[in-house]
Amino acid sequence: MAPVRMSGGGQPWWRRAVFYELYLRSFQDSDGDGIGDLPGVLRRVDYLAELGVDAVWVTPFYPSPMADFGYDVADHCGVDPTYGALADVDRLLEALDRRGMRLVLDYVPNHTSVEHPWFREARASRSAERRDWYLWREPAPDGGPPNNWLSQAGGSAWTFDERTGQYYLHSFLPEQPDLNWRNPAVREAMLQVLRFWLDRGVHGFRVDVLGALLKDADFRDDPPNPRYQPGDPDFMRLLPIRSANQPEILEIVAAMRAVLARYPGERVLIGELYDPVETLVSYYGPALGGVQLPFNMNLLWLRWCAQGVLDLVNRYEAGLPGGAWPTWVLGNHDQPRVASRLGPGQARVAAMLLLTLRGAPTLYQGDELGLRNAEIPPHRVRDRFTGPGRCRDQQRSPMLWDDGPGAGFTAGEPWLPVEPRAGASVRAQQEDPGSMLSLTRALLALRRREAALVDGDWRGISAADNVLIYERCNAERRIRVALNMDETPKEGGFAGEGAWRVALSTDPARDKGWIDGVFTLAGDEGVVLRPENRTGGGPR
Ligand code: NOJ
Repeated sequence: MAPVRMSGGGQPWWRRAVFYELYLRSFQDSDGDGIGDLPGVLRRVDYLAELGVDAVWVTPFYPSPMADFGYDVADHCGVDPTYGALADVDRLLEALDRRGMRLVLDYVPNHTSVEHPWFREARASRSAERRDWYLWREPAPDGGPPNNWLSQAGGSAWTFDERTGQYYLHSFLPEQPDLNWRNPAVREAMLQVLRFWLDRGVHGFRVDVLGALLKDADFRDDPPNPRYQPGDPDFMRLLPIRSANQPEILEIVAAMRAVLARYPGERVLIGELYDPVETLVSYYGPALGGVQLPFNMNLLWLRWCAQGVLDLVNRYEAGLPGGAWPTWVLGNHDQPRVASRLGPGQARVAAMLLLTLRGAPTLYQGDELGLRNAEIPPHRVRDRFTGPGRCRDQQRSPMLWDDGPGAGFTAGEPWLPVEPRAGASVRAQQEDPGSMLSLTRALLALRRREAALVDGDWRGISAADNVLIYERCNAERRIRVALNMDETPKEGGFAGEGAWRVALSTDPARDKGWIDGVFTLAGDEGVVLRPENRTGGGPR
């Protein structure tokens, strides 16, 4: 078991950490079956260390029929042979630890696979001992589903079970029946899962669909969503106020936190939540007893402009409970790639934003290369979630390590198409100082050098002319960031505020010289600036 360490300065490590989401299936294959695996990750830990991230969240590796590629768990305490063996998790923990990185697992508490022994038992008969571990209801009078709740995978959230004549609830695919968290035996069994992995030394968990854990006890209908627009995914037709976000979820989170608290080293819970900031912040819980990091996904759907970002950050910062640590996300394996959403130029600006905002950022695998949504021909589609714009395979295509046939990802036939593009691979980018990989590494290195980027306060300064300017400031240092969110050059200025040195620009052509008064940003350029005394050169 790897030792668990605190960070320096008495702060929990996760307040200083940059997280990396490692989408296991597409990271590195080691055995030629075309699917990424844990031994593959072990080969690439140096890449993660050189990138400069502090913690790695690995997507599910548990035994699974893979209806939802591992989010349909058949055994929460094992490793699917496709991904390796339990000993590989221990090896990964050690390998990361040797390089000063931590491991966060994906914890999937809302549902299991239909193949999980608990569900097999539950569905065997109405009187099965574990029947009540899942959510069963009688059909509606017309024989249809018990209420109007919708599955996030498409269609009704209820499937009729012929053998026992009742419906069971699944917030996702029918192969992912929801657990009944109101049953104390379910709670205890799922808390035991946390202990199993904590005993092995993992540093925390990303909690899958945290907001869905508890549903309305009376199974009342969800109301229509007045903001639904044709073309939105089907499940957005309703507001999930009964099928999710019940306040008692915080009692469950408190029980999870109590489990973590018995282990040394400030283990962390990161909640997967897709809520506006006003709802999101409630997941920090009373006296911060909720999840330490409720994912803030609001940048994912924001209209991308300086004023929009400024307003969002101000609203979020103002809404955070005292002492709560912010989080930021630009992409994950469920969302279209940031480089496709914003274009390659703004993807560089967005990376600078992500890594200079206050709080814990999570980088999605491949975004450090600027990967775009892959073209997935219909016969290669694997994702079963349906609906407009919903094929999640496009953002799950394999890592591009080199320019060979399997892109260094696999020696076999990759499970999703590998989409090599000139200059896109790690090998090509690491030699190129102007690449997205070099920029990401430089941003991460700058964060490590400039404590103000980690612990400094945030102050929004301006969004005029679509240039976002903000400051990060601690007792020793003031850092300014100016992001041109347009393709056209813009002038900015800090007249009367002395000289500033460009610490880093998204534009590799920029001379890292002084800036006084008025300065020009190229289109799609962001700069990090620090004030310096031109004669003395010392920090202020
Ligand atoms: C969120 C996961 O990120 C997604 O990939 C999965 O399909 C659902 N939760 C269901 O577990």
